[in-house]
Amino acid sequence: MDYQSVISSINEIAGGNLDNERKLQAICDYLKEYVDEFDWVGFYLTDKSEERMLVLGPFAGAPTEHVRIGFGQGICGQAADTKKTFIIQDVSKESNYLSCSIDVQSEIVVPVMRNGEILGELDIDSHKKAPFTDEHRKLLEEVAQIASGIIV
Ligand code: SME
Repeated sequence: MDYQSVISSINEIAGGNLDNERKLQAICDYLKEYVDEFDWVGFYLTDKSEERMLVLGPFAGAPTEHVRIGFGQGICGQAADTKKTFIIQDVSKESNYLSCSIDVQSEIVVPVMRNGEILGELDIDSHKKAPFTDEHRKLLEEVAQIASGIIV
C-alpha cells in the first residue's frame, strides 16, 4: 500500500464536487478496491433522532443485517461508546461482537470525531486473520479526520 497516494486520493474525493453522501461512498469504494486486506468498508453515522444509536451509511462490500447498532453493542458500539479505535485481529475471540458474515475474521473501527463529539465511525472488515498494522491504523485515523469534514 502506498500511504501517501491513498491519502491524496481521499483528499481529492473530499475536495471534489460530489455531494457529501457520494463522497463517503467514493471513500469506501476506493479503500475497498485499493487496500488488499479491506474486504468491507463502511461508515456508521450517529442517528439524528435517537441518542446513542448508529445507523449504517455508505458502504462497499456485502450487505449487512446490522443497519442500526446501539452504543455499547458489538465492536462498532463499543468504539462509539469509548470514542477509541478498536482493532480486533481475531473476531472469534470476542464475546461482544456482531457478525456480518462468516468470512469476516478481523475488524478495525475508527471513530469519526469533531470537537470531541462523535459523528460516526469508519468500519473495516477483513477476511484475513491479523492483517492490521500500525500503518493501517494511522491511515484510517487520518481518513476519519478527513471524513469529519464531510459528515454534517
Ligand atoms: N462487526 C460489527 C458489526 C458491523 S459489521 O462488521 C458491518 C460489530 O461487531 O460491531
